[in-house]
Amino acid sequence: MSNTNVQIFDTTLRDGEQVPGCKLNTDQKIIIAEQLDLLGVDIIEAGFPVSSPGDFSSVEAVSKIVKNATVCGLTRSVENDIKVAAEALQYAKKPRIHTGIGTSDSHIKFKFRSNREVIIERAVAAVRYAKSFVEDVEFYAEDAGRTDNEFLAKVCEEVIKAGATVLNIPDTTGYCLPHEYGAKIKFLKENVKGIDKAILSCHCHNDLGLATANSIEGAINGARQIECTINGIGERAGNTALEEVVMIMKQHPYLNLDTNINTSMLYGMSQLVSEHMGIHAQPNKAIVGANAFAHSSGIHQDGVIKNRETYEIIDPKDVGVTESAIVLTARSGRAALAYRAKNVGYELTKLQLDVVYNDFLKFADAKKEVEDNDIHNIIESSSIYNELR
Ligand code: KIV
Ligand code: ZN
Repeated sequence: MSNTNVQIFDTTLRDGEQVPGCKLNTDQKIIIAEQLDLLGVDIIEAGFPVSSPGDFSSVEAVSKIVKNATVCGLTRSVENDIKVAAEALQYAKKPRIHTGIGTSDSHIKFKFRSNREVIIERAVAAVRYAKSFVEDVEFYAEDAGRTDNEFLAKVCEEVIKAGATVLNIPDTTGYCLPHEYGAKIKFLKENVKGIDKAILSCHCHNDLGLATANSIEGAINGARQIECTINGIGERAGNTALEEVVMIMKQHPYLNLDTNINTSMLYGMSQLVSEHMGIHAQPNKAIVGANAFAHSSGIHQDGVIKNRETYEIIDPKDVGVTESAIVLTARSGRAALAYRAKNVGYELTKLQLDVVYNDFLKFADAKKEVEDNDIHNIIESSSIYNELR
């Protein structure tokens, strides 16, 4: 792995699946995991094996079919969770146990009714125990976003000594601002003894709409793994969206960050996950939303028809979308109407276009979107078209 490479840890099948009503069965998890593997993700978090017999079977089945990616199972810092995860992962070519514990004062006081010393002891014991089953052990410091940096550094140092290979720094509640999250990663990079033996990982939630920005800021400051989900699905406001962080790194090469993702599969992947989970990305969703490459106002359409780059920073083909869409509405101009008319077989003269455009506007004012068959009807019933052809 080069120093510019950011590992993509996909948690669609674990954190993403925690969305109410989006539960996946084993067959669905297998279908999605196969595609994630082809997409080029480095790690697939397949589930939380101790949580239910169904999830255990899913993690086991995914472990058997994944060819390239590391397969990961989540646990708490509880011996039985770790033992069960190791069992579920036994067929994986590259297994990883993801164990951890809450480290913020709020989690320590209210969730565990404990203290910092005991939390460190439990973290270390969990990593050591996981290490007795697999070489690759990732540790998460839950609610790291609200954890005091000095204490977080101490926890990180101790779990590295116990053998953790990856340190996950989750902004579990989506509270951090990008500069704060970036500074946290920088602080850990500069203050944790032995940090060079481990990879720092960003795991950000989207409660304030900052998950993507925070993850990128983390990578800029030295993190080399980003945890994310397809379409950004996940608990509450969701997780970092895989397609967003990947395309940010691709479209901004001066950041010197890259991934192993085959971006031309992103749109298909988004559709697949939507279909199986039964929730669709909102139309204005970056990269994969239905309107991400659609242009409907006259000024933008005119620009895009002349040159796509006037209003698009990504070539739709790069993410698996066939072409930009010129959507006809009452806000569209003549250029768009002429373009769409040509696509359905009508080469309009300037005079014809002027008249047909007026008919089109009357029609478009009464209808949200003008489709191909509407274009036929408008043109065929226009007197000027018939007179001049
Ligand atoms: O958001 C979070 O803190 C998590 C951990 C369990 C990794 O999902
Ligand atoms: Zn999470």
